[in-house]
Amino acid sequence: MATAVEQPQDRSQPATPFERIGGHTVLRRITDRFYDLMEQDPAYAELRAMHAADLASMRESLPAFLAGWAGGPRDWFEANPGKCMMSMHAPFPISRQTAGQWAEAMRRAVQDAAPEDTEIAEAFIDVLTRMALGMARG
Ligand code: HEM
Repeated sequence: MATAVEQPQDRSQPATPFERIGGHTVLRRITDRFYDLMEQDPAYAELRAMHAADLASMRESLPAFLAGWAGGPRDWFEANPGKCMMSMHAPFPISRQTAGQWAEAMRRAVQDAAPEDTEIAEAFIDVLTRMALGMARG
């Protein structure tokens, strides 16, 4: 199946990570798979239990955050002025174990979404893993 990759308008500029990963289409595929895994795989039960019963708002906010974070449309950042992802997570009791669950589910989700550009896919996995582990306390 062909992937609807969103192309940059201005070819004189290097593609952003948002464009390289496949734009909104692929980010949504990644985050839907991520929350499906969180809901269905008992390996992530502890991580799941930390979240609200209904993940519908997370299924909207995570891809919107990732879009702006990766150099794409900044709607999430405009809707959440000054909100820092690291500080926002500071009140949650995130152990190395739950951070590891987040990182592993995200790695699987990126791999299952199979972005065409495998180099940017690996970079997403690497940076998001480090971000998640950086949120762990103790
Ligand atoms: C390290 C493990 C992590 C845990 C345990 C965790 C847990 C949580 C929890 C409990 C919430 C509140 C939402 C709810 O109650 O359903 C939340 C919100 C959120 N998290 Fe995480 N998180 C983790 C890592 C990350 C990372 C690495 C990112 C980004 C790359 C992220 C992005 C978000 C976003 C975008 C929201 C919603 C913020 C909003 O739009 O208001 N989380 N997280």
